[in-house]
Amino acid sequence: MSAVELRQERSDGEPGASPRQPSASNNQVNWDRFDSEAYVAHNYRAVRDDDRQIMVIVRDFFAGQDLAPESRAVDVGTGANLYPALAMLPFCAHLDLWELGSANVEWIRRQIPHFDDNWLDFWDVYRAQPAYRAVADPRAIFASRAEVHRASVFALPSRTWDLGTMFFVACSMSADLAEFRRAVHAFVTALKPGAPFAAAFMAESQGYHVGGEWFPAVAVDDAEVTAALAPVADGVRVERIDLGDPLRDGYAGMIVATGRSGSE
Ligand SMILES: C[S@@+](CC[C@H](N)C(=O)[O-])C[C@H]1O[C@@H](n2cnc3c(N)ncnc32)[C@H](O)[C@@H]1O
Repeated sequence: MSAVELRQERSDGEPGASPRQPSASNNQVNWDRFDSEAYVAHNYRAVRDDDRQIMVIVRDFFAGQDLAPESRAVDVGTGANLYPALAMLPFCAHLDLWELGSANVEWIRRQIPHFDDNWLDFWDVYRAQPAYRAVADPRAIFASRAEVHRASVFALPSRTWDLGTMFFVACSMSADLAEFRRAVHAFVTALKPGAPFAAAFMAESQGYHVGGEWFPAVAVDDAEVTAALAPVADGVRVERIDLGDPLRDGYAGMIVATGRSGSE
């Protein structure tokens, strides 16, 4: 197996049943075919070490911000992953989950009233921080604050939210570097000037399988993430999450960025 085949980021690990689309742009991909159950089963049944490292960074970052109780939060490209949205739960009055794929939207709709037990294991990582520990019943609070929207990152209204997350979306929605930059720009400028954000990216991804379906990605590194954020964000910190062996289990490393939306 080649190195490229090993790098099946966020994948369910199944070999490709459908042909690759190496030059696919975002609107050429049928996101309704994203298999939410296969994705969550492979990636989020249990807390992995790389996700744990990201959660600690994001948790401590948001806990150090001065956010008003009436803040509105947005998680873009939620897919079948609740931990980015949960990182914002103590700091918002309303939590918008912005996702394009219909199966993912249905999956989110089912999770909102009573999310699955595995997300409580993710919540335990956040609970080490007092602001999260103060949330007595995260399931009930999530149910009362979360709202799902079926919409594209490219349709985000500008300057609307007070804090935001976008995990493994800009790098994993297209093979086009210009679209990666546009998605980062759309996300950060959907936040009000000064609003804090956290974003995560797969490093150097070549694409991935979910439930036998192939999805495109664009290979980015820390420098590309930094460059994409520079025109629209302030106080940016970019960190590499590396577990040592770069190709273990098809794992090529992750990048997490925190910062504040700039005033442009
Ligand atoms: C690799 S998954 C990441 C899911 C999740 N955020 C996570 O952390 O695992 C990429 C997600 O981006 C979504 N997506 C693709 N194109 C999008 C678009 N134009 N606008 C919003 N979401 C999109 C997909 O449906 C999918 O849920």
